[in-house]
Amino acid sequence: MKNTLVTESEIEKQKSIMRHIRDTARDSALRLAYVDTYGCQQNESDSEKLRGMLREMGYEITPDEFAAEIVVINTCAIRENAENRVLGNIGALVHTKKAKPSQIIVMCGCLAGVPETVAKIRESYAHVSLTFPPNALWRFPELLYAVMLRRALDEGRDPAICRAAAEMPVGPRRMFVDDDRAAIAEGLPTHRDMQVRAWLPVMYGCDNFCSYCIVPYVRGRERSREREDILEEARGLVAAGYKDITLLGQNVNSYGAGGSDNFPSLLRAITAIEGEFLIRFMTSHPKDASAELFEAMAQSGRAARHIHLPFQSGSDRILALMNRGYTQSEYLEKVAAARKLMPDISLTSDVIIGFPGETDDDYEQTLRLIEAARFDSLFIFIYSKRPGTPAAKLEDNLPKEVKAARFERLNNLQNSISVEKHSRFIGKTVRVLVDGQTNEGSYTLKSRTNGGRLVHLTGGPELIGRFVDAGITHCNSWSLFGEP
Ligand code: SAH
Ligand code: SF4
Ligand code: F3S
Repeated sequence: MKNTLVTESEIEKQKSIMRHIRDTARDSALRLAYVDTYGCQQNESDSEKLRGMLREMGYEITPDEFAAEIVVINTCAIRENAENRVLGNIGALVHTKKAKPSQIIVMCGCLAGVPETVAKIRESYAHVSLTFPPNALWRFPELLYAVMLRRALDEGRDPAICRAAAEMPVGPRRMFVDDDRAAIAEGLPTHRDMQVRAWLPVMYGCDNFCSYCIVPYVRGRERSREREDILEEARGLVAAGYKDITLLGQNVNSYGAGGSDNFPSLLRAITAIEGEFLIRFMTSHPKDASAELFEAMAQSGRAARHIHLPFQSGSDRILALMNRGYTQSEYLEKVAAARKLMPDISLTSDVIIGFPGETDDDYEQTLRLIEAARFDSLFIFIYSKRPGTPAAKLEDNLPKEVKAARFERLNNLQNSISVEKHSRFIGKTVRVLVDGQTNEGSYTLKSRTNGGRLVHLTGGPELIGRFVDAGITHCNSWSLFGEP
C-alpha cells in the first residue's frame, strides 16, 4: 500500500492555528498544560509531539493537573487493567475540572480508538471535552481550536477566528473524533522529555493482527516514514547531543514493506552517521527478524547489542492460534543466529500467560523455550481479552488461580536466569552511558550498558550524557550496581 503523507498545506494549517492560539491568548498570564502518558514508547513519543504542539500554542508544561488550563491524557488499550487504571484517573479529573471550570480535558491515545470505551466516556465522563485516536494526533491543534471556539461562543466572548481555519464549522460542545485515516505527518514540533536518550519513530501502525492484540485496530495500517525524513531527524538528534536513540515501530522489521526500502538497510544508513551514539530499535517481530538484520547490527559499532524479540508462547499450537507465524524451533533458530554473530547480545522478550485454552503442556513448552533461550530479561503478561480481536471469541476458561500460579512459576524461573546473568558482571568493568539521576541510596545516577541493562552508579551529575567505564559491584534481578 502506498503511504499517504499529510499534505504540506494541511500541516501549514495546523501551524497557523497553533500561532493563532498563542497570539490571541486572553491574558498575558502564564498558560499551563498537563500531559499524562500511559503505554508503550510509541505513546511516549506521541506525547513529546503533544507537548511540542502545546508549547507552540503558548503553553508551558506543568506536572500539576490542578494548575493546568489543558489536561491531555494519552492512553493505552493493550490490556484491561491498563484500561481500568486510565479510566479511574480520568474519572478523578472531575475534581480538577471543579476547581478550574475553564479547564479543557482531552483524552487521546489508543483507548480513544476503542468505540466501546469512547461510548463510556461520552455517557459517564461529562468533564472530558475531546477524544481523538492516535491517527488524528497531527490534527490536535485544529481539534483543540474547535473546542476553544465553541467555548468562546457559549460564553459570549469574541471567538477570535483563525483565518487559516475560517471555513471550519464550529464544533459541538463535546467532540469524539473517529478518524481512521492512517497517514504520516511530517514537520510538526516535538518537545523531547529526555536529554540523552531519544525516541525516533520510523513506522506507524501494524498489519500483523496477532489474534489477541488490539494495536492494529487502534493504530491502523502499517506505514513507513521516508528514509530521508528519518535520516534528517537522526542527524539532528546526534548534532543536539543525544547519545542513545531508539527507532520505534510496532514491527520495525517490516519497515519499508511494499516499497524498495527495508529495515536492515535503514539501520546501516543511520549507523553510518558520524558521532558517538548508539542506535536501538523496537519492536522486532521474530517472523521478520532476518539474517540480514543481524549482519547489519553486527557490522556496526553504533548498533546496540540488544534485541527485544517477543516470543509470546513456546507452544506451536498456541503460536498458531495467536497468528504469530513461527514455531518454537524457528524462534530458537533466530536466537542462535543472532548469538552466533553477536555472542554478547542482550536478548529480551515478552510472553503471554493464559491464552484461551492454554493447557499444562502448552505452558510447559513456554517454560522450555525460556530455559533454552535464557533471556536477559522478560516481560510477563497475563492474557487479557480485548474487544474486537479474534481471540476475544475464544472461550477464556482458565481459572484465575491457574493463571496466577503459572505467572509465579515463570517469574521465578526468569528471575533466577536474570540473577545468574547479572552476577557474571560482578567484578567486571563495563562501558555504560549515564542518562540521568535516580534515588537509590548512595547510587545517584542511572546508566545503561550497550545491551540496555540498567546500572545504578555513584557519581556526580556532570557524568550525565557521557560514556564511562563502570566497575560492577553487585546486582539484583532487574539491575546492576557499580562505580565509575
Ligand atoms: N508490537 C510489539 C508490542 C506489542 S504490545 C510486538 O509485537 O512485540 C507489547 C506486549 O503486550 C506484547 O508483546 C504482548 O506480550 C503483550 N500483549 C499484547 N496484547 C495483549 C493481550 N491482549 N493480553 C496480554 N498481553 C498482551
Ligand atoms: Fe500487536 Fe502483533 Fe502487531 Fe505486536 S505485531 S502490535 S503483538 S498485532
Ligand atoms: Fe498501548 Fe497503544 Fe502502545 S495500546 S502498548 S499505547 S500502541
